[in-house]
Amino acid sequence: MRYKKRKYFLAGRINLINRSKIRELFEKASRMEDVISLGIGEPDFDTPEVIKEAAKTALDEGYTHYTPNAGIPEFREAIAEYYREFYGIDVDVNNIIVTAGAYEATYLAFQTLLEEGDDVIIPDPAFVCYVEDAKIAEAGIIRLPLREENKFRINPDELVEAITKRTRMIVINYPNNPTSAVLDKKTAKAIGEIAQDYNIYILSDEPYEHFLYEGAKHHPMLKYAPDNTILANSFSKTFAMTGWRLGYAIGPAQIIRDMVKLHAYVIGNVASFVQIAGITALRDERSWEAVKKMRRVYSSRRRIVLDYLSKMPHVEPFRGKGTFYTWVKIDPELDMTSEDFADYLLENAGVVVIPGVAFGEYGDGYVRISYATKKETLVEAMERMEKALERI
Ligand SMILES: Cc1ncc(COP(=O)(O)O)c(C=O)c1O
Repeated sequence: MRYKKRKYFLAGRINLINRSKIRELFEKASRMEDVISLGIGEPDFDTPEVIKEAAKTALDEGYTHYTPNAGIPEFREAIAEYYREFYGIDVDVNNIIVTAGAYEATYLAFQTLLEEGDDVIIPDPAFVCYVEDAKIAEAGIIRLPLREENKFRINPDELVEAITKRTRMIVINYPNNPTSAVLDKKTAKAIGEIAQDYNIYILSDEPYEHFLYEGAKHHPMLKYAPDNTILANSFSKTFAMTGWRLGYAIGPAQIIRDMVKLHAYVIGNVASFVQIAGITALRDERSWEAVKKMRRVYSSRRRIVLDYLSKMPHVEPFRGKGTFYTWVKIDPELDMTSEDFADYLLENAGVVVIPGVAFGEYGDGYVRISYATKKETLVEAMERMEKALERI
């Protein structure tokens, strides 16, 4: 059967969503030979063996059926236990919904908490999905600039200034994609207090919590404003499980219950054997050993990338202490947009980097480099970049 060429009538809603701006760059790169991509947004590691084995055993044991919509109780208990042990935060299974990654957790939060007439504050630059989620929820979008002089942290005074009567929620994401910035306790506390004073929600997206360097610490927003916070988290980055689609949201039980209503009709439940493997990921020492090892490798790659970049002409890396990205400032004297600059590197070095403008207007002037790539490849890419930049 072949579909006829015709015009389909679509719901206007679907046209609100923008496909990623960086698609053209990737398409161009795919037509070229010998290209190294530093655009990757996922771990290059395989999922730790012990987690894979747990999924296989679960299948053999018959975990092939539907589960409760909110997720298997024992898995939610393991998540609660993790927050208690790791951060000293007390949450209950009723505060937790298991989702298909942080993407779904975020989407559910937007759909459950926002509607037309509400505004959401989204930092600029920010990971790409928040703006699209806001549009689908028909919420107004207020961008809050993140500035290098403030280490790309939210400035509490600017946050207060941005809040209006319509403001319902602010999105926070630390350790931050794309800037690699981390949040300090003082700012986390201040944001928590502001959220309580102005009665707004904090959607805190924290999938990079374990990739911290130079002694940096994670400050989960749940600690500072539990009644106002919806936490989105994921197994994707921590345990190198992007393809498994496993994440969760934590929040007040009433809100979680309403998020489950929507989740029940979209996803139903996350795959049962994947949830069982999630229990092993959280409870088995071997999976945490694997996380430690990944962090060590990322840390050494980060040093290599920062060393190379700090010696290159026309760029200046921001020394953020989290994630597996480096945020790199382009010399303003070059008078190139971040897209021009990424294009130059693709054509002259055969290296893909992500133009900062993909993450918002304030991201222009920067590019994002991912070091979720083998050391040899990374070194090769750095050498090529150095040569190409010396020729500008
Ligand atoms: C900040 C941030 N949030 C959410 C996601 C989505 O992750 P998941 O695989 O958990 O849906 C990503 C993935 O790159 C991310 O960087």
